[in-house]
Amino acid sequence: VRNKVMNPVTKPAFAVDAGAVALIDGHDGVGHVLTVLATKEAVKRAKAHGIGVVGVRNSNHFGTCMYYTLMGAREGCVMFLTTNGGPAMAPWGGRKKIIGTNPWSVAAPVGKRAPFVVDMANTGVARGKIYLARNKHLPIPLGWAINNAGEPTTDPQEAIDGIILPMAEHKGYAIAAMVDVLSGVLTGSGFLSSVHSPYKTAEKSNCGHLMIALNIEAFQPLAQFNTRMEEFADEIKAVPTAKGFDEVFYPGEIEFNNNLKNRKEGIQLPEDTLADLKRIAKETGLESKLPLP
Ligand SMILES: NC(=O)c1ccc[n+]([C@@H]2O[C@H](COP(=O)([O-])OP(=O)(O)OC[C@H]3O[C@@H](n4cnc5c(N)ncnc54)[C@H](O)[C@@H]3O)[C@@H](O)[C@H]2O)c1
Repeated sequence: VRNKVMNPVTKPAFAVDAGAVALIDGHDGVGHVLTVLATKEAVKRAKAHGIGVVGVRNSNHFGTCMYYTLMGAREGCVMFLTTNGGPAMAPWGGRKKIIGTNPWSVAAPVGKRAPFVVDMANTGVARGKIYLARNKHLPIPLGWAINNAGEPTTDPQEAIDGIILPMAEHKGYAIAAMVDVLSGVLTGSGFLSSVHSPYKTAEKSNCGHLMIALNIEAFQPLAQFNTRMEEFADEIKAVPTAKGFDEVFYPGEIEFNNNLKNRKEGIQLPEDTLADLKRIAKETGLESKLPLP
């Protein structure tokens, strides 16, 4: 915001508004605000047409994918979301980073159980976890990243300055490339090296997103889907555990449990993060409005 690469007041406009399909130009507004709008639009269109597809271009980093796909699941949709991001990894076999971690998420309701949510970056690990390790002064596991010299590293700063490795080798790279085609090329936003990370604040983000909502009622009664998803979850949960495991989870379940726990016990912030928040609150005159310890 200070560098004027992101507009603090989001003023979106429809570049396309055509029944099941819409394209929102975010005019470099706040990614979270734009993606909430895209989610609502996709759900609305899915309710009318069975499917709603909304692209967003000229957006900014929106945080976690599952916040938005869960919004859709609560509305009775199977929800799919992709986003591209600033360069973090090299194409498989290359040693120049030009492709983002490019996460994607699918969420669906599971009746009385925790919703089913897949939400993952295509790097072996989300970059946020490397920043968190740096803030906590902890080493990262081998296999997460290579340094600028192309050597494996456990130093989070070297990893941030170097190249993060894709999950599942060439397959993570291939999925990240697909996400960039959907989020960047198709929406008319930036792609590959023309997208910039929120940690690089000199240039505008240029990132794009694609949201697809499928109205479950268009496929089968919602109650039937919920029962079938409960059966799906029950069968997974009933699998006997392997050595070293106490429980088998389906995707989204651990995050659901953490959410309940955090809401009860509060969220632990690393000291550095807390110090950053306090400094920014002071600089922006928001100190009195933030309930920071
Ligand atoms: N906006 C951006 O540009 C951006 C970029 C990168 C990451 N992110 C976000 O960072 C977050 C972290 O991503 P990640 O790749 O580290 O996720 P992760 O590796 O923690 O989890 C990936 C998936 O595996 C599932 N899972 C994890 N452990 C499991 C278990 N034991 N059993 C069953 N399922 C299990 C999770 O529910 C999740 O769906 C995501 O929310 C992502 O959207 C955002």
